[in-house]
Amino acid sequence: MRSHYCGDINETHLDEEVEICGWVHRRRDHGGVIFIDLRDREGIVQVVYDPDRANSFAIAESVRSEYVLKLRGRVRRRPEGTTNQKMKTGQIELLGLNLEVLNESKTPPIQVDGDIDVNEETRLRYRYIDLRRPEMLEKIRLRREATLNLRRFLEDEGFYEIETPFLTKATPEGARDYLVPSRTHENSFFALPQSPQLFKQLLMIAGMDRYYQIVRCFRDEDLRADRQPEFTQLDIETSFMDETQIMAMMEAMIRRLFAEVIDVALPEQFPTITYAEAMDVYGTDRPDLRNPLTLTDVGDLMASVEFKVFSAPANSETSRVAALRVPGGGSISRKNIDEYTKYVGIYGAKGLAYIKVNDRAAGMDGLQSPILKFLPDDVVEAIMQRTKAQTGDIVFFGADSIKIVNEALGALRDKIGEDQGLLEGDWKPVWVVDFPMFDWDEKANRWTALHHPFTAPVGDIAALQANPGETISRAYDLVLNGTEVGGGSIRIYKTDMQQAVFNLLGLNENESKEKFGFLLDALQYGCPPHGGIAFGMDRLVMLMSGASTIRDVMAFPKTQTAACPLTSAPAMISDAQLKELGIRLRKPPVVETK
Ligand code: AMO
Ligand code: AMP
Repeated sequence: MRSHYCGDINETHLDEEVEICGWVHRRRDHGGVIFIDLRDREGIVQVVYDPDRANSFAIAESVRSEYVLKLRGRVRRRPEGTTNQKMKTGQIELLGLNLEVLNESKTPPIQVDGDIDVNEETRLRYRYIDLRRPEMLEKIRLRREATLNLRRFLEDEGFYEIETPFLTKATPEGARDYLVPSRTHENSFFALPQSPQLFKQLLMIAGMDRYYQIVRCFRDEDLRADRQPEFTQLDIETSFMDETQIMAMMEAMIRRLFAEVIDVALPEQFPTITYAEAMDVYGTDRPDLRNPLTLTDVGDLMASVEFKVFSAPANSETSRVAALRVPGGGSISRKNIDEYTKYVGIYGAKGLAYIKVNDRAAGMDGLQSPILKFLPDDVVEAIMQRTKAQTGDIVFFGADSIKIVNEALGALRDKIGEDQGLLEGDWKPVWVVDFPMFDWDEKANRWTALHHPFTAPVGDIAALQANPGETISRAYDLVLNGTEVGGGSIRIYKTDMQQAVFNLLGLNENESKEKFGFLLDALQYGCPPHGGIAFGMDRLVMLMSGASTIRDVMAFPKTQTAACPLTSAPAMISDAQLKELGIRLRKPPVVETK
């Protein structure tokens, strides 16, 4: 139907006749001449209709935004003064020779040319129009280029792309499962995979050596800007490589991705930080290293002060007293401090003490704070020295359980870094390593796996059993600008170790057999040492494109309540279907009767 894409026409086609198809991006009537900007995937070209060709002119007058047209035109240079440097085709235009309307369009609920003025619900409901907007198209194009680039790297390195099932058994990654009832096996359900974790390990046992897959994962969890109920992983597994080798190869892959797709040079070597250090210094295991603010422990200095708010946590093993110094933060207003106090409250902090340093040289007289009266001068001076506070700074304090202090001050660090424009540099990747194997779940009174239960510990079974809480895992996360973009580990490849970990997680032999018997079996048939990683494709592309949510880089994302306004999924199903599945609803919908 066409000879060229709209966006591909340029000065090399001058005086040629071309045929194009596309959507009416804009139509302007300039007293006797009609301009149509026709748009297709590759761009926009301006077509001019003059009244000499009465038929075409009449049709051109009748077209509206988003009509689908097919036309023939002659390429000519734009008259002096009317060129458009911002447009790929801005040097030329087409003189319209004919015009056919292939399809009409109702007035679109979303404006395609220009800023959007509709809510996200409408954008998702009419996603096929939203995606026509050049900035959305650009994100989809970037995503495709990123995917292609990663595929090429992995193919060059000898990885096989292998598909794994969606209808399967639960794979624990810390979220709830999406379940699918089986019609053929009454009372039984499939779980959609939270990740292909166990299948990729089975592929290593099968001798596939290097596997990858760009694969959908399903997790029923609380949604955030960087979380969706279904999302895409670049999932990778290799045999006979240790963590140093895997991390080096993955780094090379990510470096090449950024260099080739968005022309960004990431550091030659990504820095590595331990989990313990990340928590101490940044209050989080996904630190944004562009942010120069750090946490400083001051518990030892507070241990014997009379102010209970500080001395109680300072004397408790499970608590922490930490300071966050903000250079130049002395100008933060009372009102802002109140807002920050409210903000840390979200994370459970009961207050946000602070000291403003108006004049460091003036000793106690140069400080301003509601808590000075509770603290001896020598303690205050020691805090000033340890935090390296200077004139013009403010120092905030958190005192509570370790968890609350880390979450509250960690979040405050992010917020102040952003509010005060403190971020340095554009791209700061960091590997986080030496995670603990387990987390203690107070409520359930048992250990849970910090990553997943297939992650190998450092050390042998005896060491693990002697001190589960202190055991370090062979896991690694890649964090970029404060977003966790990937995570992986060396896996357990021996049955007895896997059984020992299951036992520590509270699964006895029968329970582990029931849930993971197939894995325990497989480990007994020559399982090679192996490990891998999975990257969140949506998150990577979000960062690369500068989007603020992963929804903007997914063609058909779901809302914050995990629904699809376009198809109205999830939806109720008919009684007949329920019956066929052997399912009765616990709270059947109320049926209106006459
Ligand atoms: P993990 O659970 O860390 O590891 O997931 C890997 C990466 O997937 C991304 N991600 C998400 N992206 C969008 N929405 C979500 N709900 C979501 N959840 C996770 C993150 C994360 O770093 N099987 C292991 C990997 C392995 O050990 O090889 C796994 O799934 O970017
Ligand atoms: P109060 O004696 O409760 O009025 O607290 C005095 C100061 O300490 C106020 O600035 C509070 O915001 C702050 N504060 C109270 N509890 C905490 C806490 N757990 N961590 C940090 N600051 C706190």
